[in-house]
Amino acid sequence: MRVPMIAGNWKMNTTVGEAIELVNKMRQGLDQIDNVEKVLCPPFISLAAVKELIEGSSIKLGAQNIYFEEKGAYTGEISPLMLADLCEFVIIGHSERRQYFNETGEMIDKKVKAALKVGLKPILCIGERLEENEAGRTEEVLTKQLSSSSDRIYYFSGLILAYEPIWAIGTGRAATGEQANETIGFIRQYISKRYGKRVAQDVCILYGGSVTADNISEFINQPEIDGALVGGASLKADQFLRIVKQTSEIKGHLSEEG
Ligand code: PGA
Repeated sequence: MRVPMIAGNWKMNTTVGEAIELVNKMRQGLDQIDNVEKVLCPPFISLAAVKELIEGSSIKLGAQNIYFEEKGAYTGEISPLMLADLCEFVIIGHSERRQYFNETGEMIDKKVKAALKVGLKPILCIGERLEENEAGRTEEVLTKQLSSSSDRIYYFSGLILAYEPIWAIGTGRAATGEQANETIGFIRQYISKRYGKRVAQDVCILYGGSVTADNISEFINQPEIDGALVGGASLKADQFLRIVKQTSEIKGHLSEEG
């Protein structure tokens, strides 16, 4: 049975001091909410401080990126081994990385493999651009993103997927619950055809893109959607708490029964 998940992607926001302040505001409230995996993804430089603050709680930690080499002369990069000590999850292939830092399918594939190798759980982001969506090419684009490597079978037992239509990220223009459910259903079907029903049924798939405390229920009420990757609203303690709380109320019983 899939456990619902809400992950907060803080992106390039918060100084270390601000990160500490934000965690202090929501730690207790978050810890009390059961049956939802709660993941905070602050910037690299705040990982250690946040790790200390959430020690002993049910809150999990994630990074926002990774490099695929273990170590060496890669100035400015952070390796999987360095992260494995600090956190459990890592966001890979976010559309902002694909768009602004020219990350290709091949690089993302290497990053996923490198993360899995050291026991980090990737949150692999996929999604289509507005023009692709409008041209009816969503399924084609997602298929390409999902199949950019041939030996991905082991991936899908170890990772979390996040479907994030690029036109919905940071725009305030979220997909509808039905749209997101249909597309995530398509992703699950693709995985099922390629890797079998069991793998497809077990993989946790999140929706991401302008999720707020006011629209989360629309997504969480859908059968294919297991949770959300939340950007802007994860920087506001009260919003994030309300998002996690509603997820627990709506979907939490599923993990309890499982
Ligand atoms: P948003 O970002 O919630 O601010 O739209 C989501 C994401 O990029 O993961």
